[in-house]
Amino acid sequence: MTRDLVFANAKVALADEIIEGWVAVRDGVIVEIGRGAAPRDSIDVSGDLVIPGLIELHTDHLETHLKPRPKVHWPEASAIMAFDAQIAASGITTVFDCIRAGRDVDYAPQANEIVSVIGSLAQARERDLLRADHRLHLRCELTADGVLEEAEAAMGRHRVDLISLMDHTPGARQFASLDAWRTYYGGKSGFPPDQLDRLIETKRVMHERNYKRHRACIVALARERGVVLASHDDTTPAHVDESITDRVAIAEFPTSLEAARLSHEAGIDVLMGAPNVVRGGSHSGNVAAEALARAGHLDILSSDYVPASLLFGAFELARRIEGFGLAKALRTVTLNPARAASLEDRGEIAEGKRADLVRVRLVDGQPVVREVYREGRRVS
Ligand SMILES: [Fe+2]
Repeated sequence: MTRDLVFANAKVALADEIIEGWVAVRDGVIVEIGRGAAPRDSIDVSGDLVIPGLIELHTDHLETHLKPRPKVHWPEASAIMAFDAQIAASGITTVFDCIRAGRDVDYAPQANEIVSVIGSLAQARERDLLRADHRLHLRCELTADGVLEEAEAAMGRHRVDLISLMDHTPGARQFASLDAWRTYYGGKSGFPPDQLDRLIETKRVMHERNYKRHRACIVALARERGVVLASHDDTTPAHVDESITDRVAIAEFPTSLEAARLSHEAGIDVLMGAPNVVRGGSHSGNVAAEALARAGHLDILSSDYVPASLLFGAFELARRIEGFGLAKALRTVTLNPARAASLEDRGEIAEGKRADLVRVRLVDGQPVVREVYREGRRVS
């Protein structure tokens, strides 16, 4: 139980507008919101913004902490605590941690390694050591031989909250350009060009052998357990049709304007990388998130590989796109991901919602996280 809190003298980010006023919290829940002077103030935020805690659906960043250098494996419990601290300090109060099933050339966890990391996360959560509310996003590389065994091993022991259906075969989707694939994987693996060429052939054979069958099995597994599904790197109308058939809720990183438009129109929430917004384009040379936002096809931002990009990216959308507005931009990192992931109890500052709140100050036009609360408890 937490005591009563009143955040006074605030710019409060409601779902549709920013108001000058206050927010009252009791026992971890938002109980009252008002305009103007607060009835009493326990925390004077000096005119800073108070926004909902951010909701991150796809972070890869745990991998950076688990493997800070090639061939260096950092102790799991320590990596998780450092990762969690960075997540919370970025204003993220709900985070879906990506764990991969299906081996790849740049990161090849064994099945037991996956279960071990998930177990360490669960243990930290049970001991109430974590600042953010951590959930599991199982990224399934469908072309990999062992993906089914690994996904089943993970799901057999732990609750999985989101599953994404990935296919990183060179020459398609994220890597429609083989040169982009060579740059990305060559850089990560350090393989020479002739070895990369052999790998391209191997991966094409793996796609033929596994993609369709594994996709059907993973989709069935998700349905059986009621897990939210995401597509990944959809590029063509055929990809989107496949996602509609499989009843996916979220389209992660569509690589073309057409795939984003068709997904959004079909009621699939389009998720794009916040680093893509901040940097002004995709590192793989695909469609820019900002272009999708301008066209009205962007629903959700994700910090992907840089936790701090989530808040930064939302503010950039509001700053760069005329008429977009801050309230709408903030929805891409709060209410929209909450709804897409079926989290009804959070994602906006409204009576009865969880008191996941972030105090933000604009410094030289950029958002700075000053304080973070999860269910009324200060966590950063
Ligand atoms: Fe991808």
